[in-house]
Amino acid sequence: MYVCLCKGLTESDVQQAAVNGNVCPDTLKACFGLEDEDCCGRCAKNIHELVAIAHSARSLTSTLPLLPQHHRQRPAY
Ligand code: FES
Repeated sequence: MYVCLCKGLTESDVQQAAVNGNVCPDTLKACFGLEDEDCCGRCAKNIHELVAIAHSARSLTSTLPLLPQHHRQRPAY
């Protein structure tokens, strides 16, 4: 699902950014350029929505080290 039409960002993009450590408002804005001139400003103003998505992804992946190694690997497509 798209979460930012100006940048064409999907929920999955935000989740991946979170896995890479971007879960704070300022880092998410910088990571995706949400304050660039070509943005409408909606996402920067409502950054809490992207932060919530990022925190959900981050808390989900933080449980992965508890799983055996064969459960952590992504399937090859
Ligand atoms: S919809 Fe995300 S900045 Fe415009």
